[in-house]
Amino acid sequence: VSLRAYNTFGIDAHARLFARFTSVEELRGLLQLPEVQQAEKLILGGGSNLLFTKDFDGIVLKNEVFGLEIIEEDDASSTALVRAGAGESWHGLVQFALDQDLSGIENLSLIPGTVGAAPLQNIGAYGAELQDTFEHLEAMEISTGAVRTFDRAACGFGYRESVFKGPLKNQFIVTSVVFRLLREARPNVSYGAIQTTLQDLGLAADTPPTPRQVSEAVMHIRRSKLPDPAEIGNAGSFFKNPELSQHKYDELKAAYPGLPGYPVPGGVKVPAAWLIEQSGWKGHRRGQHGVHDRQALVLVNHGGAQGADIQALAYEIIASVRAKFGVELHPEVNIM
Ligand code: EPU
Repeated sequence: VSLRAYNTFGIDAHARLFARFTSVEELRGLLQLPEVQQAEKLILGGGSNLLFTKDFDGIVLKNEVFGLEIIEEDDASSTALVRAGAGESWHGLVQFALDQDLSGIENLSLIPGTVGAAPLQNIGAYGAELQDTFEHLEAMEISTGAVRTFDRAACGFGYRESVFKGPLKNQFIVTSVVFRLLREARPNVSYGAIQTTLQDLGLAADTPPTPRQVSEAVMHIRRSKLPDPAEIGNAGSFFKNPELSQHKYDELKAAYPGLPGYPVPGGVKVPAAWLIEQSGWKGHRRGQHGVHDRQALVLVNHGGAQGADIQALAYEIIASVRAKFGVELHPEVNIM
């Protein structure tokens, strides 16, 4: 089965076996089949954080558990619980929330991928992270078929991290996620570009934006910087932003006064995009793949590129940033 339509990088890798499931029961049934038990398994959501570098000699299980519903209103805290099937598109959930006058995830508008994949890497953008509104999720244990509930603490969220990428990797399949969203909007405009974009879109400087306006501003920013996977293959940020010790940051800042940095507990986070751009890679093109010309953190497939070529380019970028700055970049994308 060609996986080309199932990964936003648009890589034409093949899987030996492929199956879809639309419910917890269907998934349990699949996991009981001997050929599924014996095969290596890859759970696929939107395929938006994945780079195939070779064919996959196992079974791809495509998560198509749908459903979006408000399951509880809590008047005391002015919040509502929304349950989303893991196969729903993330942006579809954001729009559902806006339509229901619920806020809290509008800053995460237009992030590609599915609801079920979102907790694995605690998706984040423009001053918000999934964990800010996350309540709990249900996931099936692959070895037993048992469904377990994970609250926020059990998920072990960090920057683009969770237990499902760490100690519980490849052990659970997320089937649904519940979010606690706000009835009374508290717009988060901590990311500077949201404020300037809102004003560019006509909002007066002293007026608080509605969640829908924040969503529109975020969509505007994303469309201006990030390539649309429907047009140019990509998986968003290819690398994580590295965290440096204060000492290492001060040293680099002395040599490169333009270096941006954001304080985090234990050090300073610096934009990988800046390091990559300063190393000369922004807009670099090599045949059918390269580095996006408006966001240096994004590697792109202009059409027909091989995953292994993109991986090789990623390693060259890592080596050149290491040589110039002494900083180690790590892929954010899951390389298969
Ligand atoms: N910058 C450059 N060159 C570039 C782009 C950015 O030097 O080509 C520098 C600038 O100094 C800029 C800074 O990097 O101010 C930050 O850029 P941006 O706000 O675009 O964010 P980012 O740190 O590059 C992160 C996330 C994105 C998320 C944005 C916005 C990671 C790995 N990436 O990127 O997430 O949309 O912040 O909040 O944390 C994703 O994970 O796929 C993703 C797109």
